[in-house]
Amino acid sequence: MAQMAQIKMRVLIVGAAGQLGQAMVARLRGEHDVTAWTRQDIELTRHQDVREAIGELAPEAIVNCSSFNQVDAAEDDQVTAIEVNAMVVGTLARSAAALGAVFMHYSTDFVFSGTAQTPYTETDQPEPRSAYAQSKLIGEWLAADAPKHYVLRVESLFGGPRRKSSVDRIVDLVRKGEPAPVFVDRVVSPSFVFDVADASAFILRAQPPPGVYHCVNSGHATWLSVGQEIVRCIGSETSLKAISVNDVKLPAPRPQFAALSNAKLAKAGYQMPTWQNAIGRYLS
Ligand SMILES: NC(=O)c1ccc[n+]([C@@H]2O[C@H](COP(=O)([O-])OP(=O)(O)OC[C@H]3O[C@@H](n4cnc5c(N)ncnc54)[C@H](OP(=O)(O)O)[C@@H]3O)[C@@H](O)[C@H]2O)c1
Repeated sequence: MAQMAQIKMRVLIVGAAGQLGQAMVARLRGEHDVTAWTRQDIELTRHQDVREAIGELAPEAIVNCSSFNQVDAAEDDQVTAIEVNAMVVGTLARSAAALGAVFMHYSTDFVFSGTAQTPYTETDQPEPRSAYAQSKLIGEWLAADAPKHYVLRVESLFGGPRRKSSVDRIVDLVRKGEPAPVFVDRVVSPSFVFDVADASAFILRAQPPPGVYHCVNSGHATWLSVGQEIVRCIGSETSLKAISVNDVKLPAPRPQFAALSNAKLAKAGYQMPTWQNAIGRYLS
């Protein structure tokens, strides 16, 4: 287990208006001296402006919650995907390196092909299958330009104030008494944004060995099972509409088996709650 450094740091959070960004600002504000930048504060693709602004602020940690997350749109707009998900990451990482700061960045289960039978670990070989996934993998590599980098792979984020996640779509339909479509053959490890924020706060304090960590709620399930848990928690009589990945044609392929093992994070000292526990807390 890593040594705890209980020090207040100057932390810069970029992408602060996003689903995870808002949770990170809320979580870290009590503990650190936080500066939060949204797109209104700075356009991250203006690399020189970003370098100068970071140099002036001189943060001790940079947390990158920005991303171009439109998985299907990225197939037709690979330039923006690479620019935001990779080049911006490189600029932030090198700015952190110049200051000797920690660089925390978020990536995705989509870097894997989804053909595995057991949860992916950090040593498994990425095999991205879409433009979005490729841009995120390049971003992971560029994050390593900061010696003190942490790349946290999350997936199926839910629980942010924007309420735009797959979990929220199911919750809204179940609450309306309408049959929510749920995949019977896509397996995921959902990630509650506030659990990801807590784990991120732990990593900033403990500073375990740099590298990639899977930061998802413990366990995995089909979307059908996730939907059934939501129905149970809400106490609804609504039935779900089971669908297959073969029923839905999307421009960008998704990994079918996307379970991630968070054992490395647990070994570093942070045990993520189960996804059932997280959904229960979110809905209560
Ligand atoms: N959501 C998921 O289910 C999921 C799954 C796997 C991995 N992840 C990863 O988790 C992290 C957080 O995701 P999220 O869902 O919180 O993302 P999000 O809600 O889409 O937020 C991303 C933020 O980045 C900002 N941004 C994008 N391009 C920018 C630019 N050029 N300059 C300045 N700001 C820019 C966006 O600003 P605007 O609001 O102005 O566009 C937005 O506030 C990302 O790294 C993502 O890849 C998410």
